[in-house]
Amino acid sequence: MSDDIYREIILDHYRNPRNKGKLSNPDVSIHDSNPLCGDEIDIHLKVEQDKIKDIKFEGRGCAISQASASMLTEMIIGRPLNTVKDLTKDDILENIGLMNLGPARIKCALLSLKVLKLSMVKYYSDKDPQSAEKLTDDSKLY
Ligand code: FES
Repeated sequence: MSDDIYREIILDHYRNPRNKGKLSNPDVSIHDSNPLCGDEIDIHLKVEQDKIKDIKFEGRGCAISQASASMLTEMIIGRPLNTVKDLTKDDILENIGLMNLGPARIKCALLSLKVLKLSMVKYYSDKDPQSAEKLTDDSKLY
């Protein structure tokens, strides 16, 4: 796809975010922000039979951070936790179609992944402390 199409997709997700809002009874809720600009993301997860049964996000900030969060929710809903916990920054950059971002914009694109990893750490810390420890390292994306 061309860069223009990706740009349009990002703007569409920014203007019409998917899965935005709260869950009534989430298994995990995590908030984090980009310390440099103050953009914020909250992720709420419902887990059932080791799958992401439902996910919602809340947030405010730049088009890339918010669109990336929206696209991430679509990417992982219904997926097994053990594939979600191993998502990499390249998976996210590929998903949003922006592989050549500068350092500042990469932080925008990866904010929601960082919050998702923190959510996984919280979820696993009760059930599987060893996985939680590894995820803690992974969550240090920047
Ligand atoms: Fe804050 Fe993009 S400017 S995350």
